Parts: sequence; C-alpha cells; structure tokens
Amino acid sequence: MDEDRSALADFFNASRLEEIVFGNNMTSLTFAISHAIAREWQPGDEIVVTRLDHDANITPWVMEAEDRGCTVRWVDFYPDDGTLDLESFQKALEGQPWLVAFGYASNALATINPVAKLICMAHDACAWVYIDAVQHAPHGPIDVQYFAIQEQQCVDSLVLSRSRDICVLYLVRKKCIDFWRPNPSR
Ligand SMILES: Cc1ncc(COP(=O)(O)O)c(C=O)c1O
Repeated sequence: MDEDRSALADFFNASRLEEIVFGNNMTSLTFAISHAIAREWQPGDEIVVTRLDHDANITPWVMEAEDRGCTVRWVDFYPDDGTLDLESFQKALEGQPWLVAFGYASNALATINPVAKLICMAHDACAWVYIDAVQHAPHGPIDVQYFAIQEQQCVDSLVLSRSRDICVLYLVRKKCIDFWRPNPSR
C-alpha cells in the first residue's frame, strides 16, 4: 500500500504520503469528504458549484448544504463553446463561500478549465477548493506544486482523480486531513 501511495504521490507531485487517500470511486469519496468537511459549516455559510460539473461534484455538496442551512451559489457556463463563465464564477465568490467545487475537465463537453486561475480566484475569496480531476487525470499530468506556485502560498485545495476502479483523493489542507482522519492502511 505504501508503494501505491508513493507512486500516486509521485503522480501528483505531492509532498507527503498522508495526502493520498484511496477509495472505491469518486462519487462515494466525495460524499464522504463533503460529510466530513461540512461539520464545520454554519447556517448561512455559502458554497459554490458549477453547472459544467458532473453530478458527482455537485450533489454531495448541495445535499450537505441543505442539511446545514447553507446557501448554494451556481456558476454558469457558455453553451456556445462550453467554457465556464468566469464572471459568474467571480460573482459567486462575492459571498465569501466556504468551499468552491469545480472540475478540471468536463466529461460532457471536454472543456478544460483554467484550474490554476480558478484556484487563485477562490483563494482570494478565502474559500476551500475541491477539484474533480476524474476526466483530466488519464490525459495529462497534475502537478499540485504548480498550483502552489501559481498562488504563492500553500495549496489548500483537493484534487481528485481515478484510474479504473480505484479512486485517489489528494488532500492538501492539513485540517482537511484531520477532518477526514484517513486510516493509514487504506
Ligand atoms: C467528470 C466526472 N466526475 C465524476 C465522475 C464519477 O466518477 P465515479 O464513477 O468514480 O464515481 C465521472 C464519471 O464518469 C466523471 O466523468
């Protein structure tokens, strides 16, 4: 297991093995992590999801938000070219959301989002970031240190990816690892 974790840490260019968590699939891992993170949410807090995302990166967050009395802000995309509407994204950040969930690459339209820019924008609003990289991971490298350089501070986002039937969750924020309390044997 350590070897697998080490190989995946290499893939993500992660600095610590404890940042790598395995699970059955993206959907169930996202339900689990959203449930863990949402324990910190207070009624009236906001979260942001996008209409470009796979449902697996929407419903877990929306359900938690409903349970906790939080507000969900939706980011639109341009139907003509399938790109994310960055003005809509910026507007959704105005309420200083707790978390912003978006995808790396769209399964429906093949759009590749400007992830580093979106991370910067979300972090400027002091939001946590959760990125669904399921569709991107088989096609290109994911260097989490690059994201760190982009925003000139510690990356505190999460990148999720999968290969065949194993899902890999990359947790960066130390506090998030504490919420999740992953068992080192998994
Ligand atoms: C972009 C994207 N996110 C999430 C999922 C859900 O992944 P899983 O089947 O691992 O739950 C899919 C499934 O195809 C997907 O394409």
